[in-house]
Amino acid sequence: KYPRKIFSGIQPTGQLHLGNYLGAVQKWTQLQNSGDDVTYCIVDMHSITIPQNPAVLRENIFEMAATMLACGLDPQKSTIFVQSSVQEHTELGWILSCLCTMPRLGHLPQYKEKSRTVKDVPLGLYVYPVLQAADIMLYKATHVPVGEDQLQHIQLTQHLSRIFNTKFGQTFPICHAMIDNHDAARIRSLRNPAKKMSKSDLDTKATINIRDAPEVIVEKIKKAVTDFTSDVTYEPEARPGVSNLVVIHSMVSGTPIEKVVAEARAIDTGRYKLRVAEAVVEHLKPIRLAIDEHLAQKNDLIHLLESGAERARQVAQQNIVEVKEKMGL
Ligand code: ADP
Ligand code: NA
Repeated sequence: KYPRKIFSGIQPTGQLHLGNYLGAVQKWTQLQNSGDDVTYCIVDMHSITIPQNPAVLRENIFEMAATMLACGLDPQKSTIFVQSSVQEHTELGWILSCLCTMPRLGHLPQYKEKSRTVKDVPLGLYVYPVLQAADIMLYKATHVPVGEDQLQHIQLTQHLSRIFNTKFGQTFPICHAMIDNHDAARIRSLRNPAKKMSKSDLDTKATINIRDAPEVIVEKIKKAVTDFTSDVTYEPEARPGVSNLVVIHSMVSGTPIEKVVAEARAIDTGRYKLRVAEAVVEHLKPIRLAIDEHLAQKNDLIHLLESGAERARQVAQQNIVEVKEKMGL
């Protein structure tokens, strides 16, 4: 009934790390190139749920836009824009917050986790999953590529779509979460392979950032925690450290895991690390240079985000008019 439509968002929180890149933005590019109808949003309104520095936030928005382009997103094929420049997001967010109960939000694990580290919890931090639902529903998206940790938020979106449809008539599709469930979908911390690679990791050697200099990447991978076995195998349960390197190597080189392992048969993990580092450096180098180039042309970025917003607005306005009419607004 509804045409296949993909929506995803990313917060403008500084640099992407290798996990964000391989787990999200690289997949977005693949979806774009497979001819899907794709909309990708820099969700700055989500970034103000915790205190922000205005100058840093503004710079981070540009950096994220530059990064998305450098990673292969093409504004001719993807709608790329900044959330706060399409006001219908917050309008639908308010409307949906009137359809959502407080207990339904309080149970969400991300809120529980985040509110533990914040002393005075802002209302926005509590309701941001509703804004996230609005982001998706505003475009009547049918598919949402997200990480596993977002599953509950997608379920909230499905729940709110059903409530709206039941109360006011069929309006929204029930969206599907596109989640990669296999081991290789999750890039792990280089220092503690039991954890996922994350920007909130305090150990700066645990995370490879997309703009890291080649020698920094080499250093971090050399120091990656593996185990006492020296051959290279892919056993995510028993040997998460070396398996993580195999996954990274496979993903940046576009080589299947079995082939990566077979080609490393003659070398030990020490030498293998250098091979992985080389592949990562080679893969990220053009991206890093392209980010710098895009950031040097800020007017082009502004222009591009504005035309993306213009395209997003056309859909958003049409859908918000339908919503308001159905609700008697
Ligand atoms: P972080 O956990 O570093 O704060 P986010 O939660 O902002 O990252 O995630 C942004 C996107 O990157 C999401 O789609 C998420 O699923 C993906 N992602 C984050 N960390 C990883 C990882 N280690 N491996 C694969 N994908 C990841
Ligand atoms: Na996260």
